[in-house]
Amino acid sequence: MASNETLLAIFMNESLLKTQAYIDGQWLTTDNQFKVDNPFDNSHLADVTDCNQEQFQQAIDAASNAFTHWSQTSPKYRSKLLLAWYQNILEHQDDLAHTLTLEQGKPIAEARNEIVYGANYIKWFSEEALRINGDILQSGLDKQTQVLKLPVGVVGIITPWNFPQAMIARKVAPALAAGCTVVIKPAAETPLSALAMAELAHQIGIPKGVINIIPTTRAKEFGKAITASKKVRKISFTGSTAVGKLLLKQAADNVQRTTMELGGNAPFIVFDDADIDAAIDGLMVSKFRNSGQTCVCANRIFIHDSVYDQFAKQFVEKVKTLSVDNGLNETAKITALINPKAVSKVSDLVIKAKQQGAQVLFGGSVSPANHNIFLPTVLSDVQADMSIACEEIFGPVAPLIRFNTEQQVIDLANNTDAGLACYVFTEDRHRIRRLSHLLEFGMIAFNEGAISNEMAPFGGVKHSGMGREGSKYGIDDYLELKYVSVS
Ligand code: SIN
Repeated sequence: MASNETLLAIFMNESLLKTQAYIDGQWLTTDNQFKVDNPFDNSHLADVTDCNQEQFQQAIDAASNAFTHWSQTSPKYRSKLLLAWYQNILEHQDDLAHTLTLEQGKPIAEARNEIVYGANYIKWFSEEALRINGDILQSGLDKQTQVLKLPVGVVGIITPWNFPQAMIARKVAPALAAGCTVVIKPAAETPLSALAMAELAHQIGIPKGVINIIPTTRAKEFGKAITASKKVRKISFTGSTAVGKLLLKQAADNVQRTTMELGGNAPFIVFDDADIDAAIDGLMVSKFRNSGQTCVCANRIFIHDSVYDQFAKQFVEKVKTLSVDNGLNETAKITALINPKAVSKVSDLVIKAKQQGAQVLFGGSVSPANHNIFLPTVLSDVQADMSIACEEIFGPVAPLIRFNTEQQVIDLANNTDAGLACYVFTEDRHRIRRLSHLLEFGMIAFNEGAISNEMAPFGGVKHSGMGREGSKYGIDDYLELKYVSVS
């Protein structure tokens, strides 16, 4: 009985607690359910409908039928609905934030930020819906060459557990603005945020079949269903590089378009001419957001030799101030990782780094008070070829690496298959211009630790994926060009 009570006690609006699948505008259940637990104390939060092949196909059919009408609605109509959804989400910010913290674990203050962050994509694309303009190309007097921009069709979407609300918003908003319909599988760890979003869309009148949400533990089967269906014309995925590669192979057989937001291994570079206080503030944001569980988190921290010791000392003092707590506490900064497997992975990387010669300046272990939490950790004497600097840590561990020259750090930073985010602190404007070109990443932040917002194109190069989300470019992934020649 501890289950839904915990949630319900906190919810102001119980109608948002949805545990069924949302298909063709209806809430549907099956014989099977899966458990959603709170990562902080493993308490049971809810039993959620576990969809199978039958519901996958039902949802694809619903999205395909709805596409016929939705793709032909006016941009103004779609824009108005998206704006109403945005407003409804903001009105329920606190309920959504509590759901998010309960099922994902992140600090409640960050959860509130995520609701606004995600909602901002919906507002942005409500505006972009009005600016999908085709073209007429020069072709002489007796001929007209028209270029139409049309929605690609049904989009199959798979979202991760680390941003259960924002990643749905970032994909669904441009899809709907373009005139596409969607079938979404949220992560099995965090389906409640996605289902609450669907309820809010339902309340403001998004037509049936336009958004379908399929909670399921059958992730592989879902991936196969959407990549094999001739009715699904595009796949949008945020998650691990390994799963992304698998989906790309499957999508190739059906020649589907893809947007892939995959893993990162972000370098965070501090030059000797940097403002050290600003660099430390930037690193606190970049490293410890969501307890280190973001694909844009600083993963390899390169500090110029001449400022390394001073930086390490000041940084440790800041890290000591981080409050390690239950995410529901307003002051919490470092909270539980998503599951015990994640804790073991971080723990193993730290143990290995120590064996390879890294020194623990702070933290370095699982919290003795709660084994779901890994303590905020600073490691020094890390070498760029240690596993901790080659793998995505996805935890609150900051490995500090020394460098001496600009060329050396460019080579070290680029020496990875990942190419998502990169952070650089320097006061030299010539260096900023050089490095903008030479660093092989989709996103580079100079002198700041936060890189994501709805106005910027989020996305990576190399094995970090393809396509961009957000900004004026984000809608292109959901539009097809059609050339029409009129003689
Ligand atoms: C992610 O970690 O997948 C997304 C991070 C962000 O949107 O900033």
